[in-house]
Amino acid sequence: MTTLEREAKLCDKIVETISTTFVGKRTMIRKMVAGALASGHILFEDYPGLGKTLLVKAFARSIGVNFNRVQFTPDVLPGDILGTRIWDQKASNFKLSKGPIFTNILLADEINRSPPKTQSALLEAMEEHQVTIEGETLKLEAPFFVLATQNPIEQEGTYPLPEAQLDRFMLKMSTGYPENEQLEAEILNRRISWQKDDPTTEIRPLISGASFRDLQKMAETKVFIHKELLLYISKLVRGLRAHPKVQVGPSPRGGLALLKASRAMALMNGRDYVSPDDVKTFVYECLSHRTLLAVEHVLDGLTSPDVVREVLQSVPVPTRFLETPAQARAR
Ligand SMILES: Nc1ncnc2c1ncn2[C@@H]1O[C@H](COP(=O)(O)OP(=O)(O)O)[C@@H](O)[C@H]1O
Ligand SMILES: [Mg+2]
Repeated sequence: MTTLEREAKLCDKIVETISTTFVGKRTMIRKMVAGALASGHILFEDYPGLGKTLLVKAFARSIGVNFNRVQFTPDVLPGDILGTRIWDQKASNFKLSKGPIFTNILLADEINRSPPKTQSALLEAMEEHQVTIEGETLKLEAPFFVLATQNPIEQEGTYPLPEAQLDRFMLKMSTGYPENEQLEAEILNRRISWQKDDPTTEIRPLISGASFRDLQKMAETKVFIHKELLLYISKLVRGLRAHPKVQVGPSPRGGLALLKASRAMALMNGRDYVSPDDVKTFVYECLSHRTLLAVEHVLDGLTSPDVVREVLQSVPVPTRFLETPAQARAR
């Protein structure tokens, strides 16, 4: 078995492990794993009870790294996440009490139930992998990524994430309803055998933090992407920006998200080069939440994914995406 095949198998195992608790949606689980391999933050948006919390917990437990879960509520303050200085009576000085953000995977559950000030406390950590507490800047250890969940914004008592915050998420996905009645029944069936409220506690990590980090590095450095595919990504992003019904299109960060996620997906597929399908598979998850429609079209019932679909269909898919042997040798 080549190294690449081994890496791909390992990724499959992570997907399998998550599937021991979370029923169905293999493609979505694969995308989540790829997003994390690309060091991306991932936001899950869906109605309550669709398994979001279960999914992110199962994933966090399948990797041998630390994770903390924060339940975002209206009264959670920035300090509750980042940490604060507290007076140490014995030592007669202030000591830093680190918040739950000092971990490898932060599960930010129901993130839009906290007000914007608390949400934006995450910004620096997400973008720069560091945290500033009362003037002191502290680095976060790698890997670090946020798996967040939120309820749809029309739900009562939610504070929609500001665009700057949304843009920090490499992928925005939804878990969705079970695909068919067999899977719906399987969810019930597992509940009968689990007897426990949190079945994810049974999950044993099958990959160490260091190995996961190695996979992340491979996705970042060992997967070739042809210039034609870079142009393809640019055309998609620019096509959305220029679309007459779009008020604000994706930032260059949106294109970067697509680049990184597709390289990680190539690795998961056991390839050391990106194919157009690796890119196409992430277009909705990377670009929809970065596309803001003009309000009159929203009122007409148009959604961002509609426009993304239109642009995706209008941009020709490159046929040249393999490197030449000479290029490969030079790598
Ligand atoms: N796809 C699924 N596979 C297994 N269990 C599921 C699935 N979807 C929902 N459930 C079950 O439904 C309940 C609610 O899931 P939860 O993760 O708390 O939802 P959410 O966080 O989206 O509100 C849990 O008991 C969970 O085990
Ligand atoms: Mg939940």
